[in-house]
Amino acid sequence: MRYIPTLERSPTDVSKADGEFASAVIEGLSLLQKELPCRYFYDARGSLLFEEITRLPEYYPTRTEAQILRVAACDLVADFSDGNLFVEFGSGSSLKTEILLDCVDADIVYVPIDVSETALADAVVRLALRYPSLEVRPLVANFSEMKGLPRDLSGRRAVGFFPGSTIGNLAPEEAEGLLAGFKRVLGKGGRLIIGVDLKKDEQTLTRAYDDDAGVTAAFNLNLLSRINRELGGTFDLSAFRHRAIYNSAAGRIEMHVVSDRAQDVRVCGRVFRFREGESIHTENSYKYTVPEFRDLAVRAGWQADRVWTDEGNRFSVHELV
Ligand code: AVJ
Repeated sequence: MRYIPTLERSPTDVSKADGEFASAVIEGLSLLQKELPCRYFYDARGSLLFEEITRLPEYYPTRTEAQILRVAACDLVADFSDGNLFVEFGSGSSLKTEILLDCVDADIVYVPIDVSETALADAVVRLALRYPSLEVRPLVANFSEMKGLPRDLSGRRAVGFFPGSTIGNLAPEEAEGLLAGFKRVLGKGGRLIIGVDLKKDEQTLTRAYDDDAGVTAAFNLNLLSRINRELGGTFDLSAFRHRAIYNSAAGRIEMHVVSDRAQDVRVCGRVFRFREGESIHTENSYKYTVPEFRDLAVRAGWQADRVWTDEGNRFSVHELV
């Protein structure tokens, strides 16, 4: 059996001190429209809840994307050749990657990038067992702040992979910036395979973010529990409710936690006042049509090449060159 590679930290990219969470919470709760950054959903419990979301009958994106990738896999990796890099931005558990890796014949180097060291370590062990001859170069880094690949890997042809419609968490202008950043990281001759959730009827969209079993509600409210646990917050979880709405003007699902009543909450020694019905905006999940997303990619400096969708036109996988 081959060795398990050690995790490599990118000096500029490692997530900063714990103080970052505290300052983000204080800043967000001080705004007129209170908000919290959605990246803080993913503590240990939040990551488990998200995995549970991906298995919900109402949450179509994960299984639809996997279905599209299974159909397109061999076409997507047909041009991989020996020494090419396969770079996954925010690889997490690298589960979808296996759909593509199963089709690869060339001796490529897989470069999973994630801020979660534990998720990366687990993925690396699993991949080493499943693909004994695959070279894996894990990188602990925040993909949105990356300037480049490790020096010894630069200069090789690189194909990026960004599945899951994670791009939907960003406003279109920010998404454009991220895609331009990926282009810089992947370098000349680079290519990007990216999963993007599609616009569709409002009911399908809102149900995907407000399931009957209440898992998405628990995922959303876990952000408040996390603030209580890690920052000594005093959120009364029984006095806040989950809300998911489709903002059709902006083309996005918005998640909020809504205060049931007027109340005060303390975090880090500060008091935050809530009116009855006042919300904290916790996440945006932008949806695109195929042409809208292709235009965005072009604005970011890419050329939109092939695109795959499912029969129900629920999800899309784009190839940018
Ligand atoms: C991981 C950002 C793609 O927006 O669908 C799922 C997160 N939030 N249910 C999404 C999420 C609530 C998810 N992304």
